[in-house]
Amino acid sequence: MRCHDGDTEKISEILEGKFQNQGVEVIRMGTDDAEDADEEAFTGTDICVIATYTYNNGEVPANFVYFEENLRKQNLKGKVYGVVGSGDKGYHSDTYCFAAETFNEDFQQAGTKKGHDVLKIDNKADEKDKEALKEFVSSLTNA
Ligand SMILES: Cc1cc2nc3c(=O)[nH]c(=O)nc-3n(C[C@H](O)[C@H](O)[C@H](O)COP(=O)(O)O)c2cc1C
Repeated sequence: MRCHDGDTEKISEILEGKFQNQGVEVIRMGTDDAEDADEEAFTGTDICVIATYTYNNGEVPANFVYFEENLRKQNLKGKVYGVVGSGDKGYHSDTYCFAAETFNEDFQQAGTKKGHDVLKIDNKADEKDKEALKEFVSSLTNA
């Protein structure tokens, strides 16, 4: 699972807890870990999850770009994936959670099976989002 600090880090913590509740072992990594692990980040895993915010008019965060560009070239067939995006619906409605959509396309290119549609969260996860994250996790573990 790849993530970033702030709203996104909090979302990744929630996801980690929900996966653990389902008895799934989680390796959670931040974008700072990405440089060391780019090529084999998802090699040993059955389920691949990306949590990302969106920056500057729909862009993937700068410290995530290298990882993102590599992802689509990987062979992740046989694995299940899900993407969660945190964005700002009010200030960035035209590019709301675009980075999450970019990762979604990368996973499709990599041949990964979609376990759930892209889940978009307006900034910080609220109680309703936490329910949606729970459903997201069950959908991925049952895919
Ligand atoms: C300079 C800047 C540009 C942003 N651009 C977008 C954007 O294009 N689309 C979007 O949905 N959110 C955008 N956001 C909102 C962030 O993605 C959102 O606040 C997110 O929750 C930040 O997550 P973080 O706390 O993990 O960094 C932008 C925020 C900033 C500060």
